[in-house]
Amino acid sequence: MLNESKYGNTKLVAEKIIEGMKEVGGIETVLSEIKEVDLIKIADYDAILIGSPNHWGGPTRGIKKFIDKLGNLPLKGKLFAVFDTYIKKDFEKAVKKMEKQINEEAPGLKMIAPGLSIRVQGIKGPVSEGELPKCKEFGNKIATQIKI
Ligand SMILES: Cc1cc2nc3c(=O)[nH]c(=O)nc-3n(C[C@H](O)[C@H](O)[C@H](O)COP(=O)(O)O)c2cc1C
Repeated sequence: MLNESKYGNTKLVAEKIIEGMKEVGGIETVLSEIKEVDLIKIADYDAILIGSPNHWGGPTRGIKKFIDKLGNLPLKGKLFAVFDTYIKKDFEKAVKKMEKQINEEAPGLKMIAPGLSIRVQGIKGPVSEGELPKCKEFGNKIATQIKI
């Protein structure tokens, strides 16, 4: 699981998704900051989850650059899902853009489930009430799908 997080909200979402995945059990997870990811290792995993804060209506530049590179890796048949954090009314905007970009750049990757979009209260957060349980549920769903 990869994420970029300036104020920690997207990272918290990633951690809660992992908690949800662990509840299902039987899956090994690795959480990395996008800047620290070793591209070569991506091909070793069965599934890749990418999380980004919404910056100006889409994913961060770092995430976009990363997705651009996925097309060069042997990822055919592997799984992906995305998640974002946003404020106010930009629900799913970054998620939809990431999904579109992944489909274009790495068409061999198969979507595990539609992306998760989590609302935060302001630029620095915190995550809005009632949102964190959705992250765990998403983790449950993702882990169950990976195991099928
Ligand atoms: C430079 C910048 C631009 C942003 N633009 C948007 C935006 O267009 N729409 C939106 O909903 N949130 C926007 N936000 C709010 C972020 O989505 C919010 O700060 C994010 O959830 C924080 O995640 P992080 O703690 O992981 O960095 C922006 C935040 C920053 C710092």
